[in-house]
Amino acid sequence: MANVAVIGAQWGDEGKGKVVDWLASRADIVVRFQGGHNAGHTLVVGDQTYKLSLLPSGLVRGKLGIIGNGVVVDPEALLAEIARVTAQGLTVTPETLRIAENAVLILPLHSALDRAREEARGERKIGTTGRGIGPAYEDKVARRAIRVCDLAEPQTLSDKLDELLLHHNTLLQGLGAAIFVKEDLLSRLLALAPLILPFAEPVWERLDAARRAGKRILFEGAQAVMLDVDHGTYPFVTSSNTVAATAAAGSGLGPASVGTVLGIAKAYTTRVGSGPFPTELNDAIGQLLGDRGYEFGTVTGRRRRCGWFDAVMVRQAVKVGGIQGLALTKLDVLDGLTELKICTGYRINGAHFRHLPAAQGAQAAAIAEYETMEGWSGSTRGARSWADLPAQAIKYVRRIEELVEAPVTLVSTSPERDDTILVKDPFES
Ligand code: GDP
Ligand code: IMO
Ligand code: MG
Repeated sequence: MANVAVIGAQWGDEGKGKVVDWLASRADIVVRFQGGHNAGHTLVVGDQTYKLSLLPSGLVRGKLGIIGNGVVVDPEALLAEIARVTAQGLTVTPETLRIAENAVLILPLHSALDRAREEARGERKIGTTGRGIGPAYEDKVARRAIRVCDLAEPQTLSDKLDELLLHHNTLLQGLGAAIFVKEDLLSRLLALAPLILPFAEPVWERLDAARRAGKRILFEGAQAVMLDVDHGTYPFVTSSNTVAATAAAGSGLGPASVGTVLGIAKAYTTRVGSGPFPTELNDAIGQLLGDRGYEFGTVTGRRRRCGWFDAVMVRQAVKVGGIQGLALTKLDVLDGLTELKICTGYRINGAHFRHLPAAQGAQAAAIAEYETMEGWSGSTRGARSWADLPAQAIKYVRRIEELVEAPVTLVSTSPERDDTILVKDPFES
């Protein structure tokens, strides 16, 4: 089995896009299987920077991209993204991009509801991207969602809109937000239909054929294990399962096809939205990590919260996410720090924990316990081989491996595609 699934092992923005782009040279197909355009993946290739949200990162390498059934697709955002990357010289056509006919659509009412709810939550807001992800997944599970295939059936669309609006307009009204008019939505969707339908197909057929032909499939996760709706810091999570097991259900392949699971973690920790963050640094070092790591949300533009590497959390992500190897990114951001800390446990209401418990109050009360390591004075920036790393940086990586109970199989040392140290090729596992 030569397939690979890439998932985030922290709270997102670990550098999945860079790693997927780098690995895509070894793959035939790149598949997105969950999330939506809440994701923001930045790829730096020479003097070009690509910012992808919904498009699989393999498209930059000219590889076939597939948007699986587990993804929630905002058709207008998708077309805008295609126009944007086309202007940068990429080719996105039905030959290079296929979308699952059974993927759920995000409609304008979903983002309206997402924003209205966040506003109503006030201080207790989740800090969502406001892109309608949660409400779209809710409709999917409630069996009233409009799917890509419905665009081909005007009567189905019309009937489903009646049901959707009965639900959503009631809610929106209750929240004091503007309501939606059926005819407007229907004509908008009918206008989108001829633009979206050429990309639609039963992608499971194509993936099954690829699998049987021995093609290499790369599954591209979005968000991360600590944002997983089951395993993350609930309720401060996204609305999909982000663990590697979702790669199967979210694309229409069996679990045995997922292959090697590569988790991506930064050499420190960041988080965009609200919620617990035991190793957060509200001091000059946190500021420095944010400045050096250029920690601004690709989607939200918000400054990311920064802190020390949390080995307890990543170990947990390794276990529940099914991670077999870790790609450690942004090691260069730690260059020159005299002292580094790694979280090895939590103290919660007087008791010691080696995992993050599920209860919201306990998570909020978690105080990180650290071990301290010496930093390094040399530079790791741009290193492409183990031999280019200062001895102390190697020690730091080795200690992380021990604590998270997974081997580091890849190290990234700058945003640039080729500034990567390959320890073990995940496609050869
Ligand atoms: P993703 O959501 O996991 O794909 O990550 P994002 O693209 O949202 O955020 C990661 C950011 O870090 C991007 O701006 C990348 O260009 C950048 N990046 C990735 N790897 C490295 C690295 O090894 N070093 C540095 N300095 N930046 C990196
Ligand atoms: P990538 O793929 C970081 C966070 C939001 C918020 C929570 C819920 O780039 O790593 P949502 O809009 O999904 O309902 O928001 O999840 N979030 C992300 N944080 N990276 C992402 O994606 C994220 N996608 C969602 O900030 O806290
Ligand atoms: Mg991102």
